Amino acid sequence: MTREQRELLEIKEKIRMGGGNKAVEKQRGLGKHTARERLEMLFDKGTFVETGLFVKHHASAFGMESKTAPADGVVTGHGYVQGHLVYAYSQDFTVLGGTLGEMHANKIAAVQEEALKTKSPIVAINDSGGARIQEGVNALGGYGKIFINNVRSSGVIPQICAILGPCAGGAVYSPALMDFVFMVDGISQMFITGPRVLKEVTGEVVSSQDLGGAKIHNEISGCAHFRDRTEEDCFGRIRKLIELLSEQKLPERKEGEQELRRDQNMDYIVPANPRKPYSMRSVIDGIADRGEFFEYQEEFARNIRTGFIRLNGRSVGVIANEPSILAGCLDINASDKAARFIRTCDAFGIPLLTLEDVPGYLPGKSQEYGGIIRHGAKLLYAYAEADVPKVTVITRKAYGGAYIGMCSIHLGADYVFAWPGAEIAVMGAEGAANIIFAKEIEQGENAEAKRKEYIHQYEEIMMNPYMAAESGYIHDIIVPGETRKRVMEAFRALEQKTEQRIPKKHGNIPL
Ligand code: HXC
Repeated sequence: MTREQRELLEIKEKIRMGGGNKAVEKQRGLGKHTARERLEMLFDKGTFVETGLFVKHHASAFGMESKTAPADGVVTGHGYVQGHLVYAYSQDFTVLGGTLGEMHANKIAAVQEEALKTKSPIVAINDSGGARIQEGVNALGGYGKIFINNVRSSGVIPQICAILGPCAGGAVYSPALMDFVFMVDGISQMFITGPRVLKEVTGEVVSSQDLGGAKIHNEISGCAHFRDRTEEDCFGRIRKLIELLSEQKLPERKEGEQELRRDQNMDYIVPANPRKPYSMRSVIDGIADRGEFFEYQEEFARNIRTGFIRLNGRSVGVIANEPSILAGCLDINASDKAARFIRTCDAFGIPLLTLEDVPGYLPGKSQEYGGIIRHGAKLLYAYAEADVPKVTVITRKAYGGAYIGMCSIHLGADYVFAWPGAEIAVMGAEGAANIIFAKEIEQGENAEAKRKEYIHQYEEIMMNPYMAAESGYIHDIIVPGETRKRVMEAFRALEQKTEQRIPKKHGNIPL
């Protein structure tokens, strides 16, 4: 090796040390890994290729002229995840607090553009003090560039974000524009206004974790989609997600996965008493390959479940009412969560399986004032807009507007199956009888006996799947144990599905 070549390697080695030992120790003291260690966890061993290592900031004000900032505080490049090409950037908090200046932003924008050009997923690892104060408007402008690239990439390539440190102020809007946001307990923080400013402005005292930690954004705000205990778990899950999103065109039919098993247990999941809850998770487990469910927003709006399963090796997005929480009602948060998930699947060509047991929309002033009309409309919009294969299984209740909204045939489902105990009606028997027989019940003697009789009559005639099947709104009424087999067959038949839509600039989803 020549002296010149040796020098090159030394320079590279020095830059790769980031902010130096002291800053790295501080990072570890906070329970965090370094920017480069994180990329190692993300990518298949030894596949990460760094670009832009030599980029430097051009700032001079406030002592910046003398400040070295290796790689300008962000590591960028590409590598492979289970053999799939993936682009990534990882902010280096050991270098000027991972803050974003003009050149730091240019590096991120470049890697975003490379991901878009090659139609590959991008993973953003955020750990930053935000806009680099010394660079003023040049730093702010950098965010604009990144946001534009987020929007251009939206629906074209999966954008995945891991918040692994601070992410504050307007900087939060890049994660917010992405498809999947991961957070880790104890180290992730995301807020528009941090605790210090909050205290000054409103006097409110709150810790950064209670204001914008992983638990808050997964359980309450819905701004994050996954919460992990450690960075290792987080990257393990991101790798799994990339696999689920990447294999659409290569359905992998492994030996043993093709078996069309009839699961006897499925026949007994729904209790005989329609008021008794059960967990839709058992139904999902009974349908999925190996019973595996990769749940999305598991802790938010738990009255609806969303996530990925594999069916015969192929990824399928599941949207399922959860009767054990709020009786599986649709409310504002459930509508938002499901609509977003449906659009994410549709954008990336992932078929949709809807499992329905829904008594209606959650009633109440808080829901009406909060705009359930507007939010519920998102769900309808998302289902009607999605042109991927759509299969619906009605396990029990399918009442009123919620019946239509949960991907009924009227909203564009390609196949609808119902279990024999399904109740497809405008509302439950009691409510219906009280309304349509109000006069008869009031006028007659033995009002209570009459009421019971009318309820029974309504149940007999309406509360079953046969009326809908007779009208052709259900393709078949099936024994629960056959669900996996029938759903798999339906998706197989839909593999070549195409739909013609009227070309338009873009739709106008209610927001
Ligand atoms: C320049 C910054 C900085 C910033 C941190 N640093 N934030 N430098 N601009 N915004 C530097 C620190 O001076 C320090 O440098 C190093 O990064 C590490 O920071 P510490 O404060 O020592 O670390 P820690 O105690 O862990 O606290 C981290 C922090 C805190 C919570 C992020 O630094 C902080 O509150 N920073 C300000 C955050 C902020 O308000 N950012 C602007 C948000 S608005 P040395 O040299 O000592 O190592 C925004 C607008 C985006 O980003 C607009 C988009 C449209």
